[in-house]
Amino acid sequence: MRNRRVLLASRPSGWVDEGNFRIEESALPQPAEGEVLVKNLWLSLDPYMRGRMSDAKSYVKGVDLGEVMVGQTVGEVIASKNEKFKEGDKVLTQLGWQLYGTTRDAMRVDEKQAPLSCYLGTLGMPGMTAYFGLKEIGQPKAGETVVVSAASGAVGSVVGQLAKIWGCRSVGIAGGRQKCDYVTRELGFDACVDYKAADLKESLKQACAAGVDVYFDNVGGEIFDTLLTRMNLHSRVVVCGLISDYNATAPYAIRNWRAVLVNRIRLQGMIVFDWKERYGEALKALGGFFAEGKLKYRESVIEGLENAPRGLIALLKGENFGKQLVKLA
Ligand SMILES: NC(=O)c1ccc[n+]([C@@H]2O[C@H](COP(=O)([O-])OP(=O)(O)OC[C@H]3O[C@@H](n4cnc5c(N)ncnc54)[C@H](OP(=O)(O)O)[C@@H]3O)[C@@H](O)[C@H]2O)c1
Repeated sequence: MRNRRVLLASRPSGWVDEGNFRIEESALPQPAEGEVLVKNLWLSLDPYMRGRMSDAKSYVKGVDLGEVMVGQTVGEVIASKNEKFKEGDKVLTQLGWQLYGTTRDAMRVDEKQAPLSCYLGTLGMPGMTAYFGLKEIGQPKAGETVVVSAASGAVGSVVGQLAKIWGCRSVGIAGGRQKCDYVTRELGFDACVDYKAADLKESLKQACAAGVDVYFDNVGGEIFDTLLTRMNLHSRVVVCGLISDYNATAPYAIRNWRAVLVNRIRLQGMIVFDWKERYGEALKALGGFFAEGKLKYRESVIEGLENAPRGLIALLKGENFGKQLVKLA
């Protein structure tokens, strides 16, 4: 058995392309004392990976050239030198874009509670982001209107469903009729605006007749700018992601700052690992809703580690429909 790994070969300027990655074969690593050897089964692809390909200053250090691309995986322990784990255990790891890896930083996951891939989506980092971002920063009250962009995606789908569970009116923004239909018919949002089809400002006015109390922003740019004009007095904006800017060579310049002043809007950035100490609470809550059938999800699955670069590029272009995953085995 040999390992295969995807390394960062060069840093993109603007859009990522497959030439930014290099695939390498190597000997299977052996676990040291305290470590487990994991065979990765699922690799998560996430928009933040674009930031890690850059060496610009951010909230964590980027990937060095020649290093394995970062990423979460769910895999199976195939050898253990750690008494807490045994062969066959299924674990969540940070092993990145590779078929096998050794680590002492693994968390056991329960296949009986949910399919393994869910620990990278609804019950994983994206779900936690939705939970803490909405609960702690958005602070929605029953009866309020919550809007979320990238609504059919990993984070957005959970935000909108939690908003409904917590008694709010839930409005999504997504690209294309198919995604919008999914958001309303399958996920149960009250409305969804197709930002690619219509005048966003006008459609938002119709979908949010009473204005917007919480905007959970996954995309930044023009959509964020337009939302500012629809926000109510003392409303909140959760600044979670800026995907529309991740491949831009110059950031979008916001025009509607006046709305922030006039309506005393509270804007706050969020990074999910600030809530690391409370992941257990989120997993319990999300796991409960999941078991009750209140959290639906959809996945975009591509097969094979060698296709991970293509998958990341597709995700950044919005070609995914639901949580983007790579099936490794
Ligand atoms: N702060 C944190 O701790 C944290 C944690 C996790 C994720 N995030 C952020 O949350 C956002 C969503 O992440 P995710 O994993 O759930 O991804 P996702 O929503 O499953 O996939 C990304 C989606 O973004 C939308 N998109 C792409 N380019 C766009 C553009 N130019 N304008 C508008 N929408 C665009 C596409 O949906 P449409 O086809 O509908 O446009 C695409 O499907 C990302 O910005 C990510 O960086 C932040």
